[in-house]
Amino acid sequence: MAKVKSKYVCQNCGYETAGYLGKCPECGSWGSFVEEIADSSSEHKNLPVIEDIYPPQKLSEIEMDTEIRLSTNISEFDRVLGGGIVQGSLVLIAGDPGIGKSTILLQTSGELCKNGKKVLYVSAEESASQVKLRAERLSVKSDNLYIYPQTNLELIKRNIDNLKPDLVIVDSIQAIYTSTIQSSAGSVSQIRECCNSLMQVAKSQNVSIIVIGHVTKEGNIAGPKVLEHMVDTVIQFEGDKYKSYRILRSIKNRFGNTSEVGIFEMGGNGLTEVINPSQLFLKEYNQTQTPGSTIIVTSEGTRPLLVEIQALVGTTPYPAPRRVANGVDTGRVLQILAVLEKRIGLNLSKQDVYVNVIGGIDVSEPAADLGIALAIVTCVRDVVFDLQTAIVGEIGLSGEIRAVNHIEKRINEAQKLGFKRIIIPDANDIQEKFEGIEIVKVKRILEAITRGVKPVKEA
Ligand SMILES: Nc1ncnc2c1ncn2[C@@H]1O[C@H](COP(=O)(O)OP(=O)(O)O)[C@@H](O)[C@H]1O
Ligand SMILES: [Mg+2]
Ligand SMILES: [Zn+2]
Repeated sequence: MAKVKSKYVCQNCGYETAGYLGKCPECGSWGSFVEEIADSSSEHKNLPVIEDIYPPQKLSEIEMDTEIRLSTNISEFDRVLGGGIVQGSLVLIAGDPGIGKSTILLQTSGELCKNGKKVLYVSAEESASQVKLRAERLSVKSDNLYIYPQTNLELIKRNIDNLKPDLVIVDSIQAIYTSTIQSSAGSVSQIRECCNSLMQVAKSQNVSIIVIGHVTKEGNIAGPKVLEHMVDTVIQFEGDKYKSYRILRSIKNRFGNTSEVGIFEMGGNGLTEVINPSQLFLKEYNQTQTPGSTIIVTSEGTRPLLVEIQALVGTTPYPAPRRVANGVDTGRVLQILAVLEKRIGLNLSKQDVYVNVIGGIDVSEPAADLGIALAIVTCVRDVVFDLQTAIVGEIGLSGEIRAVNHIEKRINEAQKLGFKRIIIPDANDIQEKFEGIEIVKVKRILEAITRGVKPVKEA
C-alpha cells in the first residue's frame, strides 16, 4: 500500500510546506499550519484534458457577449453587485457567523423566484426543516425554490446538472467537501478544490453561483485569501453585533465598481433595505447637543452619508496622554492633533483625546479630517457646534484644507436632510447651483474655526 504523504498548509493564506512551521513565511501568521493529506492524484492524474475551444483570436475579430444580469429585486444588493448577478459568475459573500448571510440569500432566492427564476439553495449547515422555518419567518415561499441539504460536492454538481437552476447558493463553502481529495471539510485544500470546481460549473453551464464564506476571527475569510482571487466578486457583509444595521460592501468585482455599499436593517422578519441611511445614522443627533460633536458628510462608494463625530478631550491622569479612535483611523487622528498643535497652537500634550464615530460605521476617508478637528476644538473650548452645519474637508500638514471628491453629491445629501450650512474646502470647484443651503468655503484650518464654528450657545 502506498504510504500516505502529508503536507502542512497555512490555513490563512494556503502556503504549503513539507514540514511543520511555527510562522508562515508567506503571510506572517503564527500557528496557522495544519497537517493535510498530500493528494498527488488530485493534482496530477485527475486534471481533465482540456480541449482548446478558444484558440488565440485577433482582438478585432472577437464578438462581444452581452452581459446578462439577474436582478435580485433588492436594489441595495443589486447596486453592490454592479447591477445584479452576472450570469455564469461566481460570487463570494463573506462575513462573521450570525451576521445574516443565510438570511439575505434566502430572501434573495425568494425574490428571484418571484421573477420566475429557478434557485437551488444548497444548505450544508442546516437541515431542510431549519431552512423552511427561516423561510416562513421571512415569508419566502415559492415552487421554484429548491432546498438541498447536502455537503458532498459531487452530489451537488449532479443536482445542478439535473435541475438546471438560474442561481445556485452554497451555504457554506466551509461545510462542503469533494471526494477527490482526502482532507477534511473546511481545510484550505478542500475549500480551494471545491471553489475551483464550482467556478468550472459556473463557466461551463453558464449558471450563477453564490457561495457563503465564514470569516475567521482574524478577519480573513477562512482559508479565504485563497478564495478571494479565485472568484469573480467578493462581497463582505459587515455590521455591529449590538446594532441592527448591516452593510454589504463589494471588495472585488470583475463586473463593477468596488466601492459600493448597501445598507440594511436586521429585524424579526429579515433584512430590510435602508433607503435613507443618513437618517439612520443621525437618529440620535438631535437629542444630543453636546460640545465636541459635529456632522460630516462622508462618501461610501458613490453614495454620500451623514454621520456624527464625537470627540472628548480631558486632562490625562497618565504620564503619556491617551489617543483613542473608534471608527476612524488612529494615525489620521494623531496627524490632525499634530496639525492643531502646530498651526493653531492648541496645547494637547497633557490631554487625553477620544474620537468616536456614532453608529459604529467606519469612516476611513481623509474628507472626515475637518469634522474631526472641529469636534476636538469645540470640545476643548466647550462650545456647542451649530447643529445646522455639516462639514467636509481634508486637512494637509501645513493646515490647509484640501479638496475632496464627490463634493456636489455631499452638498446635496446635507441639503436633503435639512442642513442649512455646509463647510467645504475652498479648493473644490462647484458647478451646480444650490439653493437653501449656505456654502462656506474655507482655505485653512484656522479660517474653518473662525468662520465655520458658530457657537449657538455656551454649554
Ligand atoms: N427567530 C428570529 N427572530 C429574529 N431574528 C432572528 C431570529 N433568528 C435569527 N435571527 C437573526 O438572524 C441572525 C442570523 O442570521 P443568519 O442569516 O443565520 O447568519 P449567518 O448565516 O451569517 O450565520 C441572528 O444573529 C439574528 O439577528
Ligand atoms: Mg448561515
Ligand atoms: Zn500563510
